[in-house]
Amino acid sequence: MARRKKLYEGKAKILYEGPEPGTVIQYFKDDATAFNAEKKAVIAGKGVLNNRISAHLMTELEAIGIPTHFIRSINMREQLVRSVDVIPIEVVMRNIAAGTLSKRLGLEDGTILPRPLLEYYYKKDELGDPLVGEDHIFTFGWADPYELEEIAAMAWRVNDFLKGLFAGIGLRLVDFKLEFGRIWGENGELYLVLADEISPDNCRLWDMQTGERMDKDRFRFDLGDLVEGYQYIAKKLGLIPESGIVEGGNINEKLAENLDQIENEVANARRLRDLKASKPRKL
Ligand SMILES: Nc1ncnc2c1ncn2[C@@H]1O[C@H](COP(=O)(O)OP(=O)(O)OP(=O)(O)O)[C@@H](O)[C@H]1O
Ligand SMILES: [Mg+2]
Repeated sequence: MARRKKLYEGKAKILYEGPEPGTVIQYFKDDATAFNAEKKAVIAGKGVLNNRISAHLMTELEAIGIPTHFIRSINMREQLVRSVDVIPIEVVMRNIAAGTLSKRLGLEDGTILPRPLLEYYYKKDELGDPLVGEDHIFTFGWADPYELEEIAAMAWRVNDFLKGLFAGIGLRLVDFKLEFGRIWGENGELYLVLADEISPDNCRLWDMQTGERMDKDRFRFDLGDLVEGYQYIAKKLGLIPESGIVEGGNINEKLAENLDQIENEVANARRLRDLKASKPRKL
């Protein structure tokens, strides 16, 4: 295979040049980091599970009309996505207090918020991704008011949808982080799409019965085996067999390679529905 050009290596993923202009390949690594990369580990199987879960959630969101960067799964660790200009804002939606919100406002973890809370963080590792308000976003030109309005509307829809989806498998969606990107059409029109990943790396998911954390907090706070939690979620979503695909640090590659059929059938059916089907923004 020809050597692909590496475009970017982040903490959890590598981006490679895609086969066609306007596409990139997302490679999901097994690296886990927390607290702005102060804590690090390599956890066999994490990348495979996140790739699978993210492909599925993006596909489901496309199906309700949320434009995403997802094109199709390639193999157990890679997916083809549209290349976007990432808006440097982490969009966080919270239903229940946890993490930095509890800390910042002195709330007890698990406090149910009176209404979902939408927050923005400036994507800048050197600064520890600081919380910002809408005015910071406009003042520094990270996004304009029209874009932010669309982003917020999408984030609320994603929350409503994912909350229901996870409740259906006995998991409480506590909070999650989204990233959005810009794509320009042939005539210079601008489209906003959901990018990056949606996985237990950036969602908090608590078991409704037991309160057990199934997400990356297992790693952050040593609450249990991370892959066990991620596999639990993937099994409940019907994405991997009950027997699991990772055991004792070993990935059953044969099993893992054949999991993307259904997602790709859906993606293929939708592939030709190009971006023109979603609403462009006037410049
Ligand atoms: N469709 C896309 N096109 C271009 N860039 C993307 C796309 N989807 C995600 N990205 C970017 O690729 C990187 C993904 O890598 P990873 O998640 O490992 O980054 P990271 O180390 O967490 O860094 P960051 O703080 O930038 O997220 C992120 O910077 C993300 O914003
Ligand atoms: Mg990231």
